[in-house]
Parts: sequence; C-alpha cells; structure tokens
Amino acid sequence: MSASLSPQIAVRTVDLGKTFGKGEGTVHALKGVNFEALCGELLMIVGPSGCGKTTLLSVICGTLGHDTGSVTVFGQDLAQLSSGKLTAFRGKNVGFVFQQFNLIPTWTALENVSVPLLLNGSSHSDAQSASAELLREVGIGEKLHSLPTELSGGQQQRVAIARALVHRPRLLICDEPTAALDAASGRKVLELIKARVCSPERCVIVVTHDSRIFPFADRIAEMEDGQMKAVHSAGEWKALYV
Ligand SMILES: Nc1ncnc2c1ncn2[C@@H]1O[C@H](COP(=O)(O)OP(=O)(O)OP(=O)(O)O)[C@@H](O)[C@H]1O
Ligand SMILES: [Mg+2]
Repeated sequence: MSASLSPQIAVRTVDLGKTFGKGEGTVHALKGVNFEALCGELLMIVGPSGCGKTTLLSVICGTLGHDTGSVTVFGQDLAQLSSGKLTAFRGKNVGFVFQQFNLIPTWTALENVSVPLLLNGSSHSDAQSASAELLREVGIGEKLHSLPTELSGGQQQRVAIARALVHRPRLLICDEPTAALDAASGRKVLELIKARVCSPERCVIVVTHDSRIFPFADRIAEMEDGQMKAVHSAGEWKALYV
C-alpha cells in the first residue's frame, strides 16, 4: 500500500510512561505504551482492572500529564502545547465520557450537555436546542431540567455521553460508557456513537469490559500491566474469543 493510501493516524503513543507516587508507594501505571488509533475507526481497549486503561485515556486527552515517551493527537504532540493551548485543543477536538461521569452537580442535564457547544462559540439558544435533541435521542428527553443527583446512574451516564457527543468531536474517548446501562440502552448508545461520530476523519476509542458491545469495534486492543499486549482486528477477536 502506498503511503498516501495509508489511513491517517488519529492518536499515536510512543513508549508512554506514567508513574504515580514516590518511594515504596510508587505505582507504574503506564510502562511504555506503544499504540496507534486510526482515523475512521472505533477502537476498543480491554484489560483487567488496574492495568492502566483510565490512565492511558487521561493522558491521551491531556487531562493528565505523562512522565516519559510521547502522545500525538491528530499530529499534535501534546507536550508541545502550553496549558491554555492544550485546553483549547481539547475543547475543539476531543469529547470524553469519564468513568465517574464528572457532571457538574449544580447544573441540569441540559446545562451540562450544552457546555462544549457554548465553549465552541454556539449561541445559548442553538446550544440548548441541540442539547435537548441529543438528550431525547439517548432516551432521557423528560429529564432535561433534572440535576445529576435527581438522575439514576444510567441516566447520568447518558447525560455524560450526550455531553461528549454534542459537538461531534474529531476524537471521542469513552471510559466504560455502558457500565451503568442495560443491554438495549448500551446498544443504542453505541449506535448513536457510530451514527454521529464515526466518519473517515474521526476516531473513537472506547475502554470497556462489556462484551455485549464488542461487535461495534473495528479493532480491539488488549492492555495488561501498564502495556499494550496485542491489537486484534474484529475478525481475529471473534475467532479468538467469541
Ligand atoms: N491518581 C492516582 N494516584 C495513585 N495511583 C493511581 C492514580 N490513578 C490510578 N492509579 C493507579 O494506577 C493503576 C492504573 O489505574 P487505572 O485507573 O488506569 O486502571 P484501569 O485499567 O482503568 O482500571 P479499572 O478497569 O478498574 O477502571 C492502578 O494501580 C491504580 O491504583
Ligand atoms: Mg478505569
């Protein structure tokens, strides 16, 4: 295949290392992670609890700094950006569904989802109508004005997903996006992600333990003990594990 026909790389990490703590309590969460996620694909990352998945996602989206190696997102080396430029880069290009949802507790579902659009310059009324439409699509149109504390875990998760999708980011990163959802809601969320964010110039990375959503993956990467163990095509994964 000629270089010009190769898929574009959305995310590349090279020998990525991250350590927490000092002395006896040191945890080597990432021990030289090398991997690539391509434009146009939905890549899932699996691996045992504590192997470094959330740490890797946090470094890729720039909310957590790394110690060694490099991470490049759409050709931009994140370490080269000042903190202000990194925040702007993330706001424009990245949507993140956090494992713990991270909703703003004093804001309604509608206000939480509107944030990325307002930060990207939408008017208040455009942001509200687009956010309300997406909340209806994820099945919680009747909860627009509820605070996170008034929502169930699965409803909060759907608000977090809507917030990450609403500005159609080039890179969508999801940490266990279906953990609090029943099978039908989980499938609906993945269908929405596919319809809204999967395109040749975009990339979706999903960390999951949920085998019910594996069929939505183009490739599945296995992490183990702070390293990337193997990356499988969907067909290889099916042959190995299904
Ligand atoms: N802020 C932190 N301070 C200290 N140690 C941390 C911190 N965050 C993560 N760790 C440690 O780093 C390792 C990797 O954690 P991480 O959260 O990335 O795992 P994970 O693969 O996402 O696990 P899970 O599937 O349970 O969500 C773990 O040993 C964890 O205890
Ligand atoms: Mg995690």
